[in-house]
Amino acid sequence: MALLDVQNLSIRFGGLQAVDQFHIAVEQGQLYGLIGPNGAGKTTVFNMLTGVYKPTSGTILLDGVDITGKNNVQISKMGIARTFQNIRLFNEMSVLDNVKVGLHNQVKCGLFTNILRLPGDYKTEKKMNEKAMQLLEVFGLQDDVKLRARNLPYGKQRKLEIARALATNPRLLLLDEPAAGMNPNETAELMQTIRLIRERFQMTILLIEHDMRLVSGICERLTVLNFGSVLCEGETSAVLRDPEVVKAYLGE
Ligand SMILES: Nc1ncnc2c1ncn2[C@@H]1O[C@H](COP(=O)(O)OP(=O)(O)OP(=O)(O)O)[C@@H](O)[C@H]1O
Ligand SMILES: [Mg+2]
Repeated sequence: MALLDVQNLSIRFGGLQAVDQFHIAVEQGQLYGLIGPNGAGKTTVFNMLTGVYKPTSGTILLDGVDITGKNNVQISKMGIARTFQNIRLFNEMSVLDNVKVGLHNQVKCGLFTNILRLPGDYKTEKKMNEKAMQLLEVFGLQDDVKLRARNLPYGKQRKLEIARALATNPRLLLLDEPAAGMNPNETAELMQTIRLIRERFQMTILLIEHDMRLVSGICERLTVLNFGSVLCEGETSAVLRDPEVVKAYLGE
């Protein structure tokens, strides 16, 4: 059974059918890419998966549980975390506190508890600090904990946003254009970071991305959205060679 199983997912905004009969099956531990031209409906899919938008129709199963129509707080508790196309951090708060905001959400005794071998009780400040520090170390942010988020360089802000998402102890991590605005060095480093997250936390990751080097470098499978509909899906290299995809998306 897929960890994320979506069928016939549609949403209409007034006269615009933004997403039409979208479907995807993401297996546990997979690194899966969602690609497509600007305005294809990718972020709208994420907004439906995380309860920001209520789909007009369709079903979303997370580990076999129907989460369709739940709100974003419920869905966060059930195990989906995300980052945003435009970074959203608490800019005036410290790096450490940004991660602690994520920790406040988390369910006890989940994946993280096991991985970090901490007791299942994070009520005390000390334990929260320890856990936040461990997470920040994974991202190489341990020397920046006292900085305000807005004073971090761009690449590190992206990492911090991912760290905060992971602090909610998700089973599925959604990344919306994590490489947007990054230079080639930052993008290469981000690829390593995403691989590390998957290995270290056995995380399942669905990411939206326009950077084809990143997509072909780390994603095992792809779904291509075009005008709100699934154009193609399958193993990454096969999808990127598909003439329909090349025509619709790559424009080559
Ligand atoms: N709340 C909304 N109300 C009305 N239209 C919306 C809303 N949200 C998204 N749309 C429209 O839905 C379509 C899909 O938008 P979406 O942001 O999902 O595209 P995208 O694939 O993420 O594009 P990009 O690659 O540029 O981020 C667009 O035409 C957009 O204008
Ligand atoms: Mg988008």
